[in-house]
Amino acid sequence: MTKCFLTDPDSSPSSCSPVRTVKLFPVTCEYIKGEKQFYYRAQQFYEDVPASEEGMMGDFMEISNVDLEGSRQFLKRFVGPGKAGTHCALDCGCGIGRVSKGVLLPVFEKMEMADMMEHFLLHAHEEYLGDDADRIETYYCYNLQEFTPPKNKYDVIWMQWVACHLTDKDLMNFLFRCKKSLRPNGVIIMKDNMARQGCKLDPIDSSISRHLDIMRVIIAKAGLEILAVEKQEGLPEVIMPVWMIAMK
Ligand SMILES: C[S@@+](CC[C@H](N)C(=O)[O-])C[C@H]1O[C@@H](n2cnc3c(N)ncnc32)[C@H](O)[C@@H]1O
Repeated sequence: MTKCFLTDPDSSPSSCSPVRTVKLFPVTCEYIKGEKQFYYRAQQFYEDVPASEEGMMGDFMEISNVDLEGSRQFLKRFVGPGKAGTHCALDCGCGIGRVSKGVLLPVFEKMEMADMMEHFLLHAHEEYLGDDADRIETYYCYNLQEFTPPKNKYDVIWMQWVACHLTDKDLMNFLFRCKKSLRPNGVIIMKDNMARQGCKLDPIDSSISRHLDIMRVIIAKAGLEILAVEKQEGLPEVIMPVWMIAMK
């Protein structure tokens, strides 16, 4: 299956038609037989995604290294003496642990990982993380919209390419819960596709890309303060812009 969570139709020079808007509320909150279809479709999508780096990156494996390097540099700004500690981090929507392995485990003594798909977490533990799996204290197999992380536990909470899988309300509430689970000087770092305008729904993997200003509103409503916002450089133009936001 082709996963297209990163492509941006607006970036094509030939796309001069008006931007199609999506009425997000009916789409994300539609229930069929008691199931919220927005989440049901994402679940169906990821069941068919292989537990591999290619699976995590869709058609864009070539940007993984640039992405990881950008994340390492961004993280450095918030960790160290007088800033966040290096005791424990949580990787939310971790998949097989691509970010845990390439960004977080080299910095933090121990880690926890959360994802809704069991086969990703199993692959992380049994194969992908190798000996570093010994430093994963807990794997949470949960939907983030239903997950409450333990209080006062993490120096850094990382959320990459998963905020896009939560509705506005669920994202706001999850961020609110994450704030309570930070240790002193702890930070939440979100990295995600941000639409060039408005909001865009990808019906294939059931994700929403939001304009940075919309994300700022959700973050403020969750009671968090934005510390820094930085665009991931070095990505091809066809890819939707990816931004990193640090907040506390
Ligand atoms: C595009 S992958 C990104 C994985 C990883 N963050 C990375 O950058 O390599 C999105 C991940 O989010 C997870 N996910 C999607 N919706 C979720 C939800 N509602 N709750 C928890 N995990 C979710 C998927 O299972 C998948 O592992």
